[in-house]
Amino acid sequence: MSMKHVFKKGEAGNQNTLLLLHGTGGDEHDLIPISEMIDPGAAVLSVRGNVDENGMNRFFRRLAEGVFDEEDLINRTKELKDFVDQAAEQYEFERKHVVAVGYSNGANIAGSLLYHYEKSLKGAALLHPMVPRRGIDIPSLQGISVFIGAGANDPICPPEETKELDKTLSEAGAAVDVFWANQGHQLTREEIDQVKAWYEKNM
Ligand code: MLT
Repeated sequence: MSMKHVFKKGEAGNQNTLLLLHGTGGDEHDLIPISEMIDPGAAVLSVRGNVDENGMNRFFRRLAEGVFDEEDLINRTKELKDFVDQAAEQYEFERKHVVAVGYSNGANIAGSLLYHYEKSLKGAALLHPMVPRRGIDIPSLQGISVFIGAGANDPICPPEETKELDKTLSEAGAAVDVFWANQGHQLTREEIDQVKAWYEKNM
């Protein structure tokens, strides 16, 4: 199935494509200003989630707040991976240089890409992510850098869950940087500045 999206070509010499993944109720336009702050010269593939939850776009279904529909998550993760593969051919960007920037529900599907597919991403900035699945073997994440932006008072993602995600990704070989803000679930300017510093160092 195709996915609604916007694509912006990168500047000559910049190999990276930022894969932007919005939060619940957002759309493909939400994170464009943030991509401009992180790397204005990168290509951008910003995707709208195909699930409609009472008029709100999401990347996969949930059974309740914080309780994922695992089967749908698995299917939608494949849908997104296939879409990115296909977009790389269509728009002629380097598939190996796709860096996800996802917020909340978008961070969760980006995490799910890492949990299910080897080399699905070059790196990922996960902003307020949860643990996408438990009890599965995850592929090697050697050579992949992950930024996790977490809120110390996030009601949707408690600190223990952030620590679990950090541990699981690190054990699979990813280089993980966790930034803690004294905030809840919202994105902050300070966090985006930290993403930019992480990106410039690692991407
Ligand atoms: C999710 O369902 O992915 C998380 O609860 C975050 C959100 O509210 O979107």
